[in-house]
Formats: sequence, C-alpha cells, structure tokens
Amino acid sequence: MAERWTPKTWRNLPIQQVPAYPDPAALESVESQLASFPPLVFAGEARKLKSALARVSTGDAFLLQGGDCAESFDEHSADNIRDFFRVFLQMALVLTFAGGSPVVKVGRIAGQFAKPRSSPTESIGGVTLPSYRGDIVNGLTFTEEARVPDPRRQLEAYRQSAATLNLLRAFATGGYANLENSHRWMLGFVKDSPQSSHYADCAERMTETLDFMRAIGINPETHQEVRTTDFYTSHEALLLGYEEALTRVDSTSGDWYATSGHMLWIGDRTRQPDHAHVEYARGIKNPIGLKCGPSMSAEGLIRLVDQLNPANEAGRLTLICRFGADKVGDHLPGLIRAVEREGRNVVWVCDPMHGNTISAGGYKTRPFERVMQEIEGFFGVHRAEGTVAGGIHLEMTGKDVTECTGGARALSAEDLQDRYHTYCDPRLNAEQALEVAFLTAELVKRERTAVERPRLDAAE
Ligand code: PEP
Ligand code: CO
Repeated sequence: MAERWTPKTWRNLPIQQVPAYPDPAALESVESQLASFPPLVFAGEARKLKSALARVSTGDAFLLQGGDCAESFDEHSADNIRDFFRVFLQMALVLTFAGGSPVVKVGRIAGQFAKPRSSPTESIGGVTLPSYRGDIVNGLTFTEEARVPDPRRQLEAYRQSAATLNLLRAFATGGYANLENSHRWMLGFVKDSPQSSHYADCAERMTETLDFMRAIGINPETHQEVRTTDFYTSHEALLLGYEEALTRVDSTSGDWYATSGHMLWIGDRTRQPDHAHVEYARGIKNPIGLKCGPSMSAEGLIRLVDQLNPANEAGRLTLICRFGADKVGDHLPGLIRAVEREGRNVVWVCDPMHGNTISAGGYKTRPFERVMQEIEGFFGVHRAEGTVAGGIHLEMTGKDVTECTGGARALSAEDLQDRYHTYCDPRLNAEQALEVAFLTAELVKRERTAVERPRLDAAE
C-alpha cells in the first residue's frame, strides 16, 4: 500500500465493484464538476460525530444507525424524508429513555445511492444484463438502456443528497425534532400496536418524566436541548470517483475529509486490505465504519484496524458486525478477543439485517425474529466478554411497507407482495423498526444497569 496518501492514491490499486462506464471522458467531466461543488457536510461536524462515537465506545452513549438499503431517485420526496426522520426520532427517544444514556443518531441517508452486488450481471427469462448498482450508477428497470452506467447520475445524487440534508437540518434544528413531538408520535404507535401492552409501561414512564420536566420548567420553549437534536448522515464509500471529488482539505486542521456525508463505511465486499476502498478510507479523517461478515478472520481484522486507525483514536472506527443470527455466537467472540488483546479502540455495532436475508414467496426477505435473535446474540456475546455492545445498524423506512416478515402484525410470506417497494434489500417498516427499538432498549437497559449501578441491596 502506498505510504503517501492523497484522495486519488486509491486509483493505483486493485479495486472491486467498479461500474463499466462506456464513456470515460463523460465520467471525468462529471467528476471535475463535482470537485467544484460545495461540500455537503463540514469537517467540524464529522469531528463532533467522532467524539460522540468515542462516548459510544465506552458505553456512555448508544449508536442508532439506519435508513434505506438503497436510496432511490424516484422516492426522493419531503414526505419520505419526514416519515423516516419521525420514526428514527421515536426510536432514539425509546433507546435514550431506557438506556439512560444519549443516542447518537446516524442515518443511512443523503448519499446512500451506490450498491455492491454479488454478481456483475443479472439474468431474467434468458436475458442477461449488467446488475443494478444503485441509482448513482444505473437504473433498476431491467432494460439494456437503463442498466448502462451513466455518470450524469452522480450529479443527480449530489443534488438529491444536498436537498435531503437541507431538510434534515431544518427538521433537526427548526423545532420539529422536539422531544414532546417524538413522545406524542411514539404514544400513537403504542396505541395502535397489536402488542401495545408490551410497550405501555415504558410509554407511561416516559409520559410521567416529560410531565415532570415540564412542571419544573424544562420544555421546548425554554431549553434548546429539548427542542433540537444532532443528526448525522452516512453511506457506503463505494463509488470512489464520486467520493474523491468531494474529498476536501479542512482549512482549520489541514486534514482531508470526505464531505459527501459525516460517516462513511467500507462494505463487506470491498474490504481487501491492499485494495482501493481501504486505501481511500484510511486517508480521510471522518469516522469510518467497517462491515464485518463471517469471512472476517481475527488476523484480517487486526490488519484492517491497523490500517484504518493507526493512532488508535477513540471514535474513529466502528465495526459493523453482520454475521447472521445463527453465526454471531461463533464469529464475534474471536474478533472481540483479538481487538481486546491488541488494546484497540473500536465501536462495536450490530447490523442484524445482512446476515439474515432469505427467500420467501419469490421475494428476498428478513424474518423479524431472526433480526432480534442476532441483536440478542450480539448483546449476549458482549456481556460474556465484558465489552460494550455499542449500537445497532438497520435497514428501515418510515413507510408501511411489507418487506420483512414477522413483527407484531405477524407479516407472512404471502403478505410481502402487498407493498414490496425496496430498490435493493428488504427494510423494516415503521412499526417493525420501532419494535426493534423497544426490544433493544430492554437489552441496553439490562447492560447499562448491570455495569454501572450496583443494586442497593447488593452493596450492603
Ligand atoms: C449494505 O449495508 O447495504 C450492504 C451491502 O452491506 P454489506 O456490505 O454488509 O453486505
Ligand atoms: Co443492504
């Protein structure tokens, strides 16, 4: 690997998952336009997220990361962004309340447009075409024209990311995100859920707490903390020409930052230590995520940790584990022990989606129970190892889709055809996402109380 890093040193290395653009000159022209555009996020925001993630690594905060598997150009609308944000805030409220520690909120949004694929081609009814690689590259429609990679799509991805981010910033700071709104929406969910009795107790305690806060004068009008929230964006750093064009020097520190999103992650298919994606990520100062699937060995992980976080900075590296409900118990302990043995500072997060994808009724789906089993397994392993289960990473939407089976409404394989809208992997719908938050909140609570607050009778 090259010692000296620049935003383009990745170009000298082998690379996976590259779209075959038919017109290199058109691609270059788009990349130079992007390089002249304003940054979408600022270095100072990325640094703030890194500090927040450092608190996650010690168990003093919890990371909630989630959003679409793939954002789509056609679904870009204020309603969709609002619905997602609203559910996300409710989840954060539930987790904050139960865990008793702050929730770091990171969306897979405002830039999550590029998708790695298992196969470069897709065949339907004897016709073989290039695979869909996300709206930033080509179109989902199964026609030859749509599947040709078109660099102009990168300009549209930038435009939509900017518009999405603008609305999210307005929601987060303009009053919409106030705690009392989140609480009211959450009560609506609890009332309508077929499992409402499970959540009623927690909801009741939240209501009492907010009433108490209001009674002593802490409310959205008087306190900015109750009125606003910090919300960050993230996506997979897959399309490196786009990322390079938006990589800028921070004038205050002289360091390079990706300005396409606050946090970028390396996917499970592009984490070869001597390849381009790791090279790109090692040089930017943003917080970085690294997906860890079943093929990650302990030695392989330590090598990557050395490359991506050589100074062992807290909050720099988040390991997003996605083994599958049946494999988490076999794979996670070895990785945790290696990291502990080497004294490496990381954030451990559970992605319970990507190892639990199955086929049912002709659709790719994920059973809700398997999602929860992986989260429980993840917490269980951390409890046994004495380490911190730092957060969850979900594919979810604010809409009432039917893409994952199970949950309180017990969606069946036959129900999937009703509202199966995803552009890539199946997402939890709004209710299922909130259920995951309630159930995970119980696990966080158990973990935090076991570690921090010895019971009074035990102390006597
Ligand atoms: C994803 O997060 O959508 C994804 C493709 O994940 P992974 O790299 O873990 O397979
Ligand atoms: Co996905």
